[in-house]
Formats: sequence, C-alpha cells, structure tokens
Amino acid sequence: MPFELTAANAAAYLAYRGLVPLDPAILAEELPGGVSAAVVAVRHPPSGLAVVVKQALPQLRVADEWLATQRRTETEVAAMRLCGELTPGSVPRVLDADPGHHVMVMELLPADTRNWQAEIAEGRAHADAGRWAGSTLGRWHAATAGSADVASAFDDFEAFEQLRLRPFLETAMERRPELAAEIAPRLAELRAERRCLVHGDYAKKNMLVGPSGRFVLDFEVAHYGNPVFDLGFFLSFVVLSAVRWGALTEELRQLGDGFLSAYQAAAGAGFAGDPAAVTAHTACLILARTDGKSPAQFFDPPSRERAREVGIELLRRPERGLWSWT
Ligand SMILES: Nc1ncnc2c1ncn2[C@@H]1O[C@H](COP(=O)(O)OP(=O)(O)O)[C@@H](O)[C@H]1O
Ligand SMILES: [Mg+2]
Repeated sequence: MPFELTAANAAAYLAYRGLVPLDPAILAEELPGGVSAAVVAVRHPPSGLAVVVKQALPQLRVADEWLATQRRTETEVAAMRLCGELTPGSVPRVLDADPGHHVMVMELLPADTRNWQAEIAEGRAHADAGRWAGSTLGRWHAATAGSADVASAFDDFEAFEQLRLRPFLETAMERRPELAAEIAPRLAELRAERRCLVHGDYAKKNMLVGPSGRFVLDFEVAHYGNPVFDLGFFLSFVVLSAVRWGALTEELRQLGDGFLSAYQAAAGAGFAGDPAAVTAHTACLILARTDGKSPAQFFDPPSRERAREVGIELLRRPERGLWSWT
C-alpha cells in the first residue's frame, strides 16, 4: 500500500523523517481547500515546530474521475525553492522533501495571514496587494526566461495538461462548441510556447495576505511554458470576483490594473503578450470556470450565468479591454 498522508498519521510521519520527536503534544489538523492534495498543519508547541505537510493526491477530490501524476509534489518543491530565491519572503520555506512518498514539509505561515480569496468573499479586496502579485510574477517570468537549466528542470508538461489544459480549456470547448473555434488558438499557444517558468495556479485562492507578509502557495503544476497563462489565470479570478461581488468591482479593477502595471515593470511591457492577448486568455479561463470541469466554488446561479456572458464578450472582443463589460 502506498503511504497516504492524513491528519491522523502526520505526527508519526514527521517523527519518521526525524523532524520532531513522537509526542502526544503534537497537534495535527487537515487544512481546508485541498482538492488535489492532502494538506495537514502540524504544531508541536514544546519545540515551536509549526509546519505544513503536503502530499499530491493521485485521484482528485471531485465528483468526476480525475487522475493526476503525484510527481507534482517534486515539481512543487523545486519551484518553491527557485521562486523563494528569486523573491525572498514571498514563498514558504521548504523544510523537507521526500520524493519516495511524494510528501513535502514547509513552514506554516503566520496565523495573521489569510487566504486572499476568502478575504474577498468577506468584502476585503486588498487592492494594494495587486502590485505585489504582479511584480512577484514578473520577476519569476523574467528571471527564468531563456534559461536552459530551468527549462530542463521543469520540462514535465503532463501535470499541467492533466490539471489545467484538458479539464479547463478542452472541457469548455466540448461543452460550448460554439466557442471552440475561438478558444482553440489560445490553447494551441499554451501548448506551443516554452518561454519561462509558469506557476500554473497563480490566483488569490493560493495566496495568503496579512500584516506579517504576502505569500504564494501551490506550485504543483509549475512548468516551463507560456507566461500568458499565469496572467490570464490571475485576472480571471479578479474578473470572476467582480462578477460575484459587484460592490467590490472598483477595488478589484484597481487590483487588476496594479497587477498588470507592476508585472510590466518587472518583466517588460508585452513580455507575456499584448493587452488583447492577455484579455483573450483571461476570457478562456473565465469560461473554463463557468463550463470546465472545475467551476468556481463561489458562484451562485446568477453569477455563473453572468460570468459566462462576460467571458464570451471578452473572448470575442478582447481589444475592448478587460473591464469593457462593467
Ligand atoms: N504553508 C502554509 N501555511 C499556511 N497555510 C497553508 C500553507 N500551505 C497551504 N495552506 C492552506 O491550505 C490551503 C490548501 O493548500 P494548497 O497548497 O493550495 O493545496 P491544494 O493544491 O490542495 O489547493 C491553502 O489555500 C492555504 O489556505
Ligand atoms: Mg490551492
């Protein structure tokens, strides 16, 4: 039987790895939100140990059967180390990596940092963090562009296919055949270009913000690819959030504008494509969330309907800009 990480065995696992003595004072709890991984927070107050243990799941926790390679834990470790060096303080430190069991251990982030998407659901947009997200991403993209070493370390494209391109874009094309001809060229661009390290899950749901800092998580589908994916992915959640929480539209627009301008300052104007291309990719990823295999969890029926209209509008007329629908 392969080892499956749970809150019940996390303490014994950490003891086996030599990170903490086996002690009844260890507290372990599964963190919510883990769809593609088991994510367990472990604290040992006597020694001050506070870590997160994470293991990629071979079968995702969704209704449909959805299998994905567990090698993505090793990808995640490599990407966290690289990005942590490029932008110190923006990525949790990796404390242990165990490729034999596809498990990694990282520092538990301070309790005053909160999931950015959860903050938005509670009415706090943190618009000023948009610039931080843009400059962090721009730095990663620019620093890894054209690097043969990074390209070979992240040349495994399979997790990105399994977890993003097929379930999001291909499924949206199958379910919305009338849009397939417009999505197809964007999908082809994502498959064809190998330009820099791409995070692949760069969205507010994978960022923690708060007084002690701002952090990016969840590097499981990192790969060497097309930078426009990360911009479209981040911005799709900004637009989807504005559709869902209309009162935050102005702040979310500032968040998105700050993201794009800080990205350009770090990576260079047009590095990931011209504004219309970025908007078209954003549109595809909005439609992936209304009609793909993994709909946005925060939709209610009217906002899902409206998000589809917005996605179609942006897909068909990207040159009008990301906020033309408001
Ligand atoms: N190092 C960490 N410190 C604090 N919270 C974390 C940490 N890692 C993950 N989390 C929390 O657990 C959630 C799920 O982790 P994540 O790495 O995004 O896994 P998944 O791939 O399942 O989405 C995150 O959204 C975040 O709220
Ligand atoms: Mg996540």
